[in-house]
Amino acid sequence: MDKKTLTDIDVSGKRVLLRVDFNVPLQDGVVGDDRRIRSALPTIEYLLKRNAAVILMSHLGRPKGQALDALKMNPVAERLAELLDRPVKKMDDCVGLEVESAVKAMRPGDVILLENTRFHPEEKKNDKNFAAQLAALGQIYVNDAFGSAHRAHASTEGVTHFLRPAVAGFLLAKELDYLGKALADPAPPFLAILGGAKVSDKIGVIKNLLPKVDGLLIGGGMANTFFAAQGYNTGNSLVEQGALDTAKSLLDEAGDKLILPVDLTLADKFAADAEIRVVPVDEIPDGWMALDIGPASIAHFSNRLAAAKTVIWNGPMGVFEFPRFAEGTFAVAQALAELSDAATIIGGGDSAAAVELSGLSSKMSHISTGGGASLEFLEGKSLPGVAALDE
Ligand code: 3PG
Repeated sequence: MDKKTLTDIDVSGKRVLLRVDFNVPLQDGVVGDDRRIRSALPTIEYLLKRNAAVILMSHLGRPKGQALDALKMNPVAERLAELLDRPVKKMDDCVGLEVESAVKAMRPGDVILLENTRFHPEEKKNDKNFAAQLAALGQIYVNDAFGSAHRAHASTEGVTHFLRPAVAGFLLAKELDYLGKALADPAPPFLAILGGAKVSDKIGVIKNLLPKVDGLLIGGGMANTFFAAQGYNTGNSLVEQGALDTAKSLLDEAGDKLILPVDLTLADKFAADAEIRVVPVDEIPDGWMALDIGPASIAHFSNRLAAAKTVIWNGPMGVFEFPRFAEGTFAVAQALAELSDAATIIGGGDSAAAVELSGLSSKMSHISTGGGASLEFLEGKSLPGVAALDE
């Protein structure tokens, strides 16, 4: 990576403004999944060990510039304090006099968590004055929020115009190393697996990956659009009519690099207890919908994956939230878990959740903490939160 990281600068005794992505799911007022918080611990602990005072900031949810009780950072502060085993002072705002005086009073080893940056509309507008107010809180800026690196917001990009050094934290650096190496210098064979509902969400990724990969496996709802583009009946399956032409031209362009399912697990309705049947992809009857890849597809995909040395996976193979339609997704996770000498990289969002649910997450080389950010990176786009950091 050509960006400076924490180890390139002296942080001892400094006040460090640290952007993290603590946009975590909340359930009944507590953190439902703390993976993003745990992933930021190496950076926070490194700073604390060097007697830095750490001022953390993050957004949580999409409050649209309003201060909403349901999206306050309090549950995050509580979980972070447990994980760090030290007090975390949670502020009621992220800028203003109270925050400024609390920051001034900080001692080495203190931790402050600012309130949700998105309670201010200026955050998403990347407002200069707001960014300057945030920047004034620290002596050093560290960005460890990979999940938000695709957003040019005040706390991810604007702040770097007012505060230097501006460097990457360990999580951001690790994400960029894994994803960057896979794109720039993958050990072959290099396979990508793409799934999820929509072709249109993944066109940029498919186009960027096609010239680099040895094979691109497609599953999930988006496979149906490719079947429809080939003229197959798709019954009640989710098909993106607006993406049929794109699917056709991708099929032409990709040749045998594009590897589609050969059979499907169908349901008579979109429900966990639906009736099930398995058919070849060109035999979907009217009234049925594909909710998972079938057993022959699982065997076909697993076979291809067995030889891979680099794999990137983004998007589930079916509706894995319904246990009876999770087989394809879990089988792909299993095939990756069995690779002993390969880099296995999982995109964030749904794919990360699916791997977690499969119980195989410890077997993967890297599970990204960024959904949208990892997609944009795989599309070959520059991430503003990264571009803004010191070379
Ligand atoms: C995410 O969860 O993908 C990031 O935290 C970014 O959130 P956003 O899509 O609301 O900007």
